[in-house]
Amino acid sequence: MKKYYLTTPIYYPSDNLHIGHTYCTVAADSIKKYKELQGYDVFFTTGADEHGQKIEEKAKEAGVSPKEYVDHIVKGIEELWKKMDIRYDAFERSTDPKHEKAVQEIFQKLYNKGEIYKSQYEGYYCTPCESFWTEAQLKEGHKCPDCGRETHLSKEESYFFRLSKYRDKLLDLYEKNPGFLEPLSRKNEMINNFLKEGLEDLSVTRSTFDWGVKVPFDPKHVIYVWVDALSCYLTAIGYGSDEEKFNSYWPANVHLVGKEIVRFHAIIWPALLMALDIKLPEKIFGHGWILFDNDKMSKSKGNVVYPEPIIKLYGVDALKYYLLREFSFGSDGSFTKENLMQRLNSDLANDLGNLLSRTVSMIEKYRDGQLPQAGEKEDVDTNLIDLATTTSQKVDEAMDNFEFSVALEEIWKLIRKCNKYIDETSPWILAKDESKKERLDTVLYNLSESLRIVSILCYPFITETSKKIRESLSIEEEPLWENASSWGLIKAGEKVKNLGPIFPRLDIKAEIENLNNENQAFADYRAAEKAKWQKNDKSEEKEDESNLCTIEDFKKLEIKTALIESAEDHPNADKLYVLKVKVGDEERTVCAGIKKEYKKEDLIGKKVLILANLKPAKLRGIESQGMILAAEDKEGKISITTTLEDIADGATIR
Ligand code: MSP
Repeated sequence: MKKYYLTTPIYYPSDNLHIGHTYCTVAADSIKKYKELQGYDVFFTTGADEHGQKIEEKAKEAGVSPKEYVDHIVKGIEELWKKMDIRYDAFERSTDPKHEKAVQEIFQKLYNKGEIYKSQYEGYYCTPCESFWTEAQLKEGHKCPDCGRETHLSKEESYFFRLSKYRDKLLDLYEKNPGFLEPLSRKNEMINNFLKEGLEDLSVTRSTFDWGVKVPFDPKHVIYVWVDALSCYLTAIGYGSDEEKFNSYWPANVHLVGKEIVRFHAIIWPALLMALDIKLPEKIFGHGWILFDNDKMSKSKGNVVYPEPIIKLYGVDALKYYLLREFSFGSDGSFTKENLMQRLNSDLANDLGNLLSRTVSMIEKYRDGQLPQAGEKEDVDTNLIDLATTTSQKVDEAMDNFEFSVALEEIWKLIRKCNKYIDETSPWILAKDESKKERLDTVLYNLSESLRIVSILCYPFITETSKKIRESLSIEEEPLWENASSWGLIKAGEKVKNLGPIFPRLDIKAEIENLNNENQAFADYRAAEKAKWQKNDKSEEKEDESNLCTIEDFKKLEIKTALIESAEDHPNADKLYVLKVKVGDEERTVCAGIKKEYKKEDLIGKKVLILANLKPAKLRGIESQGMILAAEDKEGKISITTTLEDIADGATIR
């Protein structure tokens, strides 16, 4: 079976991924499903990039250890992918011990080959981007050229990767292999902004923080997060642990990445692989950003749209369809709620939803729900059949170029053609004329057969919907891509099922408000959850570290003065006395391990302190109803506690 290996980036653990984050994963998932329909053995890697200073700082803020922090957040990311039916094969976590070990081996190998050397680093570091910059590269005010945030000057001993020596090799790679980096604009950017100037060697270790993979032979250094993260693409398929599996999937067919991280994938990554004598991936595709009012989505700007509210209100296919259809993958695009609603109404509710419900309803009404046999073809039928059986080729072309939007547009041309076919053939008129029975059968058959083809074509993108179409038409076998170019496969005689409207029509104005409210409610809910989680962990940490208790904790203890009235040896324990004490109006029996320190006669008549609300417990057969309090010093010397002045027994200590 032919193999296909594709990856998305390994995400930074962020508590709320927004719809921009889901873009690449949704695209990768559609490729996975598309290739599988074609019979490929596809391996799809995503994961989490869990090391680095940024995480270390965030965990500290949250009052938890970095591992606890990432474990908590990563769980949420995996839940989101599950909710979205993202069918990855590996969720590679950079904190996985197997991965960490492989990263150390990679580092060691590079060092042994002389590709890494030790020196001094001085440069500007952007913690949020985990990137070093030279002064010349910075924006005004020493700001990071990528994210615009403050950088800080960092001077430290560091190991360097000989990136500079790969400049010509990279230029050569781009020239000889024009498909290596797409779209073309990204390649020009790499050449003009980075390679033309010449490359500097890359600092690949940090020693100012701890949360990372340690350099195996110099553990005060941790390995640069990008070397660590990029290696996930290798370790996810068995590099360092399962060579056979690794060799069966590597080299990757494509790494899908956002445009701001193309630099790491198209320069550092191939250079590292060349240095390691590992084959290069076939392609890096740098997609555009989904913007909000032409700006990057960010919590601080308050313009974040979360996937969960959209899924809750309109379903997962609505989100996936919108992302893949509305934006051209290689370019930036602006998200608006109006566009979203319009797409859902026009493409999903009107075009596809209507086609399915009209077809199924007519079969129910005119043929008692049973799919009829087709008869003679007319021109209008041949036209439809031609388009239906050739659409998959157009989708293939678009998918080869990562043009998801074009692929969907081709499928929708067929859907709109089917709706037009209904209008042209007017089945409701045919139904009135008994002599047109066979013609009506043909029309209904052709519509159902076209819908079968649509269900295969749209399966990679809107899988739930595809399944609904197949269920409505009682198609039981699994979809296969090759069956999207054949005609006549749907079985006459099957009963259709009416599932009702699969996409309701939306009142755009009302829905925008609805979505705004849901989005806000979701953000509030997550913020409250986060506060709860972090507060809990903080208080636990305090308890662990300093053993502090609150006044509420202290109030739970009832410490009282007690008068010792008698003292006897415990019949079954050498070290214990059995004391009778008076606590105000109460008489109690208390066992105390003070035989070594005190004679019986010295105890009688003494006022001591007892913990009066200690749960009674049997000590060697005698129930002890409290505990005498005593001080113990470092040498183990014991002294019973009492009050400074004489005070009545039963007095409360507070
Ligand atoms: N951890 C690195 C990747 C390491 S890969 C070896 C990283 N993580 S990230 O969480 O910040 O970003 C993950 C992906 O989400 C990136 O490809 C990034 O471009 C993408 N997006 C984040 N916001 C986006 C939009 N608004 N629109 C589209 N994609 C965006 O970078």
